[in-house]
Amino acid sequence: MERDLTPDWILKQTLSVQQKALMDYVNEKTGGKDDGGLTLTMLGCGTLGSAILGGILDSLSSSQDQEADDSTPKKLPTRFHACVRSPKSGERIRKELGHYPAFKQVQVHEKNNVEPVRKADVVLLGCKPYMVADILKAEGMREALAGKLLISILAGVKEEQIQQHLSADCTVVRAMPNTAAAVRESMTVIATSNPPLPKDTENLVTWIFTRVGRVTYLPASNMDACTALCGSGPGFVALMAESLAMGAIAMGVPRDDAYLMAAQTMRGTTGLLLAGEHPAMLRDKVMTPGGCTIGGLLVLEEGAVRGTIAKAVREATVVASQLGQGQANVNGTRRT
Ligand SMILES: NC(=O)c1ccc[n+]([C@@H]2O[C@H](COP(=O)([O-])OP(=O)(O)OC[C@H]3O[C@@H](n4cnc5c(N)ncnc54)[C@H](OP(=O)(O)O)[C@@H]3O)[C@@H](O)[C@H]2O)c1
Repeated sequence: MERDLTPDWILKQTLSVQQKALMDYVNEKTGGKDDGGLTLTMLGCGTLGSAILGGILDSLSSSQDQEADDSTPKKLPTRFHACVRSPKSGERIRKELGHYPAFKQVQVHEKNNVEPVRKADVVLLGCKPYMVADILKAEGMREALAGKLLISILAGVKEEQIQQHLSADCTVVRAMPNTAAAVRESMTVIATSNPPLPKDTENLVTWIFTRVGRVTYLPASNMDACTALCGSGPGFVALMAESLAMGAIAMGVPRDDAYLMAAQTMRGTTGLLLAGEHPAMLRDKVMTPGGCTIGGLLVLEEGAVRGTIAKAVREATVVASQLGQGQANVNGTRRT
């Protein structure tokens, strides 16, 4: 006993009590699972939210994606909460994402938003634009979001509209991905923040969206046009694919072959464009004098296809700008 009460022993005991208190504190903060990662809560996890969560889980489950470089955030999301309304949606998430090994770190919540947001370090807002006020005005939500990073993927809802429901220390970032996130081919535009985000926060936002495709940053004033080009773009491109296939079907090509050929032709063309080819140069290269391509292109010009598609993007930009303002009939026939 005498030996136990030496200064060395007392110091050791004190340090061990201190260490235990520190670990208890850390465990309480992290729900007992301090793996050094962040907690990401998907506040609304439908088509797009599930695609983004799927991309992250896929990346965390794959050893190939674990190589870090200067742009890798210091902490990655490793624990997840997915919030939906209906049990059916909860079941859909389990079915769609349950096969990823990292899914064991996902908790699905139905009609329970505040608690998962309270546990989060980062929240991704993925509900429909018209639901945002009700969700953010819920009792306790402002406090649960205080001091956190909130990433919104809502079409047409401006940062200020979201910020009005939150305390000033909540950082809001606007991002516009698209439906191709489901196949990791999204084009996501992120609005640059003013003042700029801390480098590690920007790295984290970039990391999240590069799990599902490409990312670029542009001023917030461009977001409605980006929503039209990138968010609505897959719809426009699908119509072009359908038109290409229908032309071939009309000339006797079997339906399934025609759709496959149209899709692969578009994929090949986009591959060339992404490799740096300018669209006008590419068009010129395949336009043999006296050939079939010039014949087809002139028909497209007669149909004002270029101006029409550009006009569709301009129209979708105007509609996007009105989506988040609660205006009724934004697609009404204003000019006819
Ligand atoms: N889809 C696209 O191509 C696309 C492209 C760019 C941007 N966006 C934007 O992405 C957002 C989501 O679009 P989406 O197509 O993924 O919509 P979605 O499939 O309808 O997903 C919305 C999600 O929000 C959940 N939700 C609804 N009310 C809720 C509440 N009170 N509390 C918690 N969760 C709630 C829904 O759950 P339940 O299913 O249980 O109702 C669902 O999981 C939209 O704001 C849209 O503007 C979409």
